[in-house]
Amino acid sequence: MSELRLAICDPSEDSRERLKHLVMGIERACLEADCSRYEFFFDVVKTTEPEVCLVNIDHDVEIATALITQLNRNFPQTGIIAISSSTEGALILQIMRAGAREFLRAPVDAQELVSSLERVAVNSDPSKRPKSGKIIAIAGASGGVGTTSVSVNLACCMAQVPDESVALIDLDLSLGDADVFLDAIPEYTLLDVAQNVERLDLSLLRKSLTKHDSGVYLLPRPVQLQDIDEISQSNFGRVLKLLKASFTHLIVDLSKSYNSLDIRTLRAADEVLLLTQLDLPCLRNVVRLLTSLEAMEGITDKIKIVVNRTGLESGQISLKKAEAHIGREIFWQVPNNFSAVSEGRNNGVPLLYSAPNAAITQNIISLADHLIDRQSNGDEVKSDKKERKGLFGFLSKG
Ligand SMILES: Nc1ncnc2c1ncn2[C@@H]1O[C@H](COP(=O)(O)OP(=O)(O)O)[C@@H](O)[C@H]1O
Ligand SMILES: [Mg+2]
Repeated sequence: MSELRLAICDPSEDSRERLKHLVMGIERACLEADCSRYEFFFDVVKTTEPEVCLVNIDHDVEIATALITQLNRNFPQTGIIAISSSTEGALILQIMRAGAREFLRAPVDAQELVSSLERVAVNSDPSKRPKSGKIIAIAGASGGVGTTSVSVNLACCMAQVPDESVALIDLDLSLGDADVFLDAIPEYTLLDVAQNVERLDLSLLRKSLTKHDSGVYLLPRPVQLQDIDEISQSNFGRVLKLLKASFTHLIVDLSKSYNSLDIRTLRAADEVLLLTQLDLPCLRNVVRLLTSLEAMEGITDKIKIVVNRTGLESGQISLKKAEAHIGREIFWQVPNNFSAVSEGRNNGVPLLYSAPNAAITQNIISLADHLIDRQSNGDEVKSDKKERKGLFGFLSKG
């Protein structure tokens, strides 16, 4: 994967180390050099030719301003991000006039750093540009409707796409089984990460997640039922923010209780896939959910209806009737294939590996592609479909 090359200059060891850890955890960013002295940084930049420089100006504002002026003059293609604990208007103006393209307040917030890098790197190769992650929430209209099957398999398919990095969060706090689907034995859970979120930088956060062979990073539900209430809404919000800075996509398998953490995720999500099957109890719940969520601003517009298990023979309501009942179009249909899904689930092997040629697998690959394309187009980044097709070529070979 191509990466955006960064160099840091910060005389304070504490904040330099903090910044280094932040940078090391950002997908698509790599730390070329770090320097503790303003007077040496020019030569460091000359030798390592980073694309972006992060300069903390607090140690000596005058010398740091002169350094930024010198860097800007000699390396006009290099983006400079100035960092200070002061947000005084005159200071910011002075630094921007010297040639900094962005100004960040110390201590640097991971999400803000990613956004700044996104802006500074706007002229560089799109595949190198750090992107703030997109949250895709997978909600269900009824227990057993297939949210975990779709979440896990979608995450695995997305993780195959070049330049995409995917975290899967199991928000079914009491009965979540995403770890079983991936045959994973996680060391840490959402509880550990939420409780320590203040102390976690992006590198530690990544290490707390369990990496699956497919490339997906899993954050599982807590082990004990009694731990569920220990995850506060605000800590969970921070976890989401950190994960957004570290991954290009977060797939969140929501619980069916629509509790405060589920709603928080729905609010933060970029897309919500609401899974249903074509039976009356599910469709009734879809209507109920849409009506209830209508009261919360900004959620229903993001919801896409996904029918799972289409092709089931008995007792199915037609798509047309379902659409009329819900009053919305069906966005996607995932075909029924009980043997493939349940076998993959029982063996802890995602469909991508256990049934690569099955129609359901190809369908979920297309869904992954479709969602990435939509988001890329939204970001005005050109997508390279051919590359993806090439990547998945091995699936059709057998
Ligand atoms: N597309 C599908 N075709 C056939 N069976 C499916 C499909 N999706 C899910 N299932 C089955 O439905 C059951 C519930 O799936 P699961 O993903 O655990 O649902 P949820 O997470 O919504 O409770 C499982 O037995 C699974 O094998
Ligand atoms: Mg589930």
